[in-house]
Amino acid sequence: MKLSFDDIGNGNPIILIHAFPLSGKMWKTQAKLLADHGFRVILPDLPGFGENLSSIFYSIEEMAAQIAEMFEILNIKKAICGGLSMGGYVLFNLLRLIPEKLSGLVFCDTTFLADTDEKRNSRFELISKINHRGSSVLVENMLPNLISDNTKQNNPALINELKNVFSKVNPLSAMHALRSMADRKDSSDIIGQVSVPTLLMFGEFDKVTNLENARMLHQIIPGSELVILENAGHLSNLEQPPKFNDALLNFCSRVDFNA
Ligand code: MLT
Repeated sequence: MKLSFDDIGNGNPIILIHAFPLSGKMWKTQAKLLADHGFRVILPDLPGFGENLSSIFYSIEEMAAQIAEMFEILNIKKAICGGLSMGGYVLFNLLRLIPEKLSGLVFCDTTFLADTDEKRNSRFELISKINHRGSSVLVENMLPNLISDNTKQNNPALINELKNVFSKVNPLSAMHALRSMADRKDSSDIIGQVSVPTLLMFGEFDKVTNLENARMLHQIIPGSELVILENAGHLSNLEQPPKFNDALLNFCSRVDFNA
């Protein structure tokens, strides 16, 4: 077993996969709320993040295989699975592996498209900067793009927390994950096959995986629900937790885990 994870509460399982360069802890307010409402919430740490001390390179597809293995080990027959950004990239691939075990899907601030050449090149530049100067470059080069102006002006506590996490992330893990994201494949083929309840949540000012993307997903996935979080950027669950949490709880409460 390569993943470490938090496992909170009892009831129908919900698995939430984190963004780059964060960990399962990014979901702590969502996990508390869902556990208080009778769900079991599992928060894996992808390789090299949080409590997961792996220093091996894994592709996004391999990370999805590790989540599938976690289902096996925990004997989870059916779960709602959600992912934000990189977590969503992993979730698209999990959908290829174990569609029969996914009773509901939550895609947040993510895209099914592969990187453009420009995006890939910017990732390789960032890898090179991390290699020379360490993870603190993530604070200067990445963080400002991930959060809305509203968050920048009104939530210094969150900014400080993010700066702290970004600058302390293991540089090798960050470089590995950036390469995995750069190499990931387009998932257009798989989303056309989604037939379970799906919630899409995007920050109004997400500059990384924007609303055009959200609308494409909404059009392609039959019956999907799209929630746009006002004043949030890319890290929408952290930037607007009350609205995000309401939508997530409402969705999870309506999913039939026996279907
Ligand atoms: C993330 O939030 O996981 C990353 O910003 C995703 C990305 O860089 O594509």
